[in-house]
Amino acid sequence: MVGRSWCGLLTAHQIPFRALARPDFDLDQPATLVAAVEKGNRLVVNAAAWTDVDGAESDEPAATRANAEAAGVLAERCATVGATLIHYSTDYVFSGQARSPYPVDAPIEPMNAYGRSKAAGEAAVRGSGTEHLIIRTSWVYAPWGKNFVRTIAKLAAERDRLEVVNDQRGRPTSAEHLAASSLALYLAGANGTWHATDAGECTWFDFATAIAEQLGSSCSVEACTSEKFPRPARRPAYSTLDLEQTEGLIGPLADWRVALSKVLCRIDQTG
Ligand SMILES: NC(=O)c1ccc[n+]([C@@H]2O[C@H](COP(=O)([O-])OP(=O)(O)OC[C@H]3O[C@@H](n4cnc5c(N)ncnc54)[C@H](OP(=O)(O)O)[C@@H]3O)[C@@H](O)[C@H]2O)c1
Repeated sequence: MVGRSWCGLLTAHQIPFRALARPDFDLDQPATLVAAVEKGNRLVVNAAAWTDVDGAESDEPAATRANAEAAGVLAERCATVGATLIHYSTDYVFSGQARSPYPVDAPIEPMNAYGRSKAAGEAAVRGSGTEHLIIRTSWVYAPWGKNFVRTIAKLAAERDRLEVVNDQRGRPTSAEHLAASSLALYLAGANGTWHATDAGECTWFDFATAIAEQLGSSCSVEACTSEKFPRPARRPAYSTLDLEQTEGLIGPLADWRVALSKVLCRIDQTG
């Protein structure tokens, strides 16, 4: 989702780029990561990751290879050629026990294997010595790809009622807004660790309700607790990322409801 959003953004701004994917860029094949970054490249955006949060519980070594070891190889290659690396991380590096937004320098205490692998990725990028921008984000969705908005839109069209968890709070993020705010941060000279999401805050139930309402669906969205849907990976009860530093540099970020309406009118219901 984020990689495709970057391609659209750079195309719209007429900024030349190369977009790489497997097999030419494979997080499990370090040589491809080294070959991907060429002398003269100024900016490398790593939007690839092991993103299967539940799957990471049963194969943490593989998630760590992709999210941490590969990130380290890529970052060291960027250091060698003098490129800046934009690398994405997650709200899941935090404990999920807070009651107010997590500042950028809050303690790292991941509660699941995916969070540990991403936290290790942050450390690998920081330790590489390359110029970098680590951008933590949360609840990403786009008109395409595997995401909550497309899942709920599909279910709301098929069913009379849906139950959605109401005990996990966070911030939805449009992948296209994330690419735009990432580029804005880079152009404004940001480096180190930053947060970028859409603004506002909600539960998954609130989010699903807004999706159904904005689509004009007659499906009844009902609240339940996480106990109703046990998952292999523990999920944070609260994972809102503080945006003060980011909004101070690049201005206010759009509210999640506004972002949602911009995506819903273009949602790809086919794939
Ligand atoms: N989605 C979220 O809610 C969320 C939340 C917080 C942070 N993030 C972070 O945001 C970044 C972008 O994620 P996204 O939301 O755009 O997820 P996504 O849509 O799942 O995209 C992940 C991409 O990584 C690629 N990938 C996976 N394993 C790979 C490998 N071994 N080698 C090369 N490419 C590989 C996938 O390629 P294939 O198509 O070939 O599988 C896919 O294009 C990631 O760093 C993620 O951890 C995402």
